Amino acid sequence: MNLKIAILAGDGIGPEISIQGVNVMSAICKKFDHQVSYTEAICGAHAIDQVGDPFPDKTFEICKNSDAVLFSAVGDPKYDNDPTAKVRPESGLLDMRKKLGLYANVRPVQTFKCLLHKSPLRTEIVDGADFVCIRELTGGMYFGEKYQDNDKAYDTNFYTRPEIERILKVGFEYAMKRKKHLTVVDKANVLASSRLWRKIAQEMEESYPEVKTDYMYVDNASMRMIQEPRFFDVMVTENTFGDILTDEGSCISGSMGLLPSASIGDNTPVFEPIHGSWPQAKGLNIANPIAQILSVAMLFEHFNRNEEGLLIRKAVDASLIANVRTPEIQIDGGIKYGTKEVGQWIVDYINKA
Ligand code: IPM
Ligand code: MN
Repeated sequence: MNLKIAILAGDGIGPEISIQGVNVMSAICKKFDHQVSYTEAICGAHAIDQVGDPFPDKTFEICKNSDAVLFSAVGDPKYDNDPTAKVRPESGLLDMRKKLGLYANVRPVQTFKCLLHKSPLRTEIVDGADFVCIRELTGGMYFGEKYQDNDKAYDTNFYTRPEIERILKVGFEYAMKRKKHLTVVDKANVLASSRLWRKIAQEMEESYPEVKTDYMYVDNASMRMIQEPRFFDVMVTENTFGDILTDEGSCISGSMGLLPSASIGDNTPVFEPIHGSWPQAKGLNIANPIAQILSVAMLFEHFNRNEEGLLIRKAVDASLIANVRTPEIQIDGGIKYGTKEVGQWIVDYINKA
């Protein structure tokens, strides 16, 4: 396979984990005889600093002309507490999603046997938890009409039927590939937008008779996720609910640094860790590269290269079992490995496999 990959490393720990993802990708391509080329592009806070735009046209062009984007993280504290800032790094991410038509954000929540004790939940609750959240990514309050003056403000949770249908379809199809259980998460007891989602989901259910579909209010779902995470197989929801629920989901596994995601849609797909730019850790070689590395696994799986994906997953599992771990998941008294060292260990494993 020939692969043209856009590398958007972004801010904070982004560049440090990005390079580990690239190294793993190169090792896999060598092993499986794929030709890969990388084009780096700027985004986020450092793109604002350089050209005044967190997702410059040139970056967009590079993404459009690639087969996939390997994205890391954007964000910088200098914008966080400044409600008057005209441009923000995060709007680069939103621009990228909109311009590339990335309407489906796939966020798997899985656990790692040897890290169960790291979860804030009891081991017997999290053991075996394994579900996927399909989050709508280009609609809802994030992109609906907004208004703000000194005394009032609103965001509109606007959705159209085609937008709802296409994301529900992703949900149903994921369920078909997994345990055939889909939970549609909404707030249909209060919100009109949710009532439309539920109506359309009920219509579509008939085309997927093998899928057991249930409906859950988002408040209830957030509780169920920590009481009984094994209940879920595939969950599908709108943008804002998905944002909140996937952060909640990420802590089930014990560290935000472990979980990857894929954003797919009309144009080039994007693969990225679910964690942010963690500016306090920038340059310290302590960030966990695994979420980024597993994003590379998702990238290969997206192109139906499951063997490649599987080898990356095996290498990651082996590193965890061998206690080659970054500080936040290392056992008491264990050696704290750096970002680079964990990445290198995983690359070596792949080379030797
Ligand atoms: C995420 C992030 C983004 C979001 C931010 C950085 C705009 O939290 O990818 O979940 O809210 O979608
Ligand atoms: Mn989020």
